[in-house]
Amino acid sequence: MKVLITEKQIKKRVSELAETIARECISGHLHAIFVLKGAFIFCADLLRALSKNDVDVTVDYTIAKSYVGTESSGEVKFSMNVDVGGKEVLLVEDIIDTGRTIKRLKEELMKQDANSIKVACLLDKPSRREVDMKADYVGFEIPDKFVVGYGLDCDEKYRHFPCVKIIE
Ligand code: IMP
Ligand code: MG
Repeated sequence: MKVLITEKQIKKRVSELAETIARECISGHLHAIFVLKGAFIFCADLLRALSKNDVDVTVDYTIAKSYVGTESSGEVKFSMNVDVGGKEVLLVEDIIDTGRTIKRLKEELMKQDANSIKVACLLDKPSRREVDMKADYVGFEIPDKFVVGYGLDCDEKYRHFPCVKIIE
């Protein structure tokens, strides 16, 4: 497996993202909702970086599953029980691929009366997009390769890698 993004590059980029997010946070309080399982490591690092930028954070999660192996099943399944009414919401995702997961999640949450809903993702594969979806904060744009590590898996393996690697 070839390293695409090193641990050091991720650390630097995550602090940059936190600075930008903090600057654009209007209320000084974010309600973060991360997408399990893939986003757990990115979210943990991003939220700790936000605390260094004096943003108050509360956290919730949702579970989404759209992949079996390296093939998209095209279908997104969700489970969540969150209340975003009146909140400045930050959706935290590991990677945006077809865009279906985060688009559906945003649409679900827009039924509630949030003050705002923004999206932060570590990785973005714009060439794979099938629906109209743009994240507000993107760590790295990557080519159309299947990647693992830093939360991302292939059949539940490799999530614990501190860097992002390409599966050949
Ligand atoms: P989307 O709904 O097609 O945008 O897919 C988003 C989800 O697919 C992500 O949250 C990941 O869980 C998974 N995914 C997409 N591309 C990759 C990849 O390269 N490696 C691991 N998981 C991926
Ligand atoms: Mg995911």
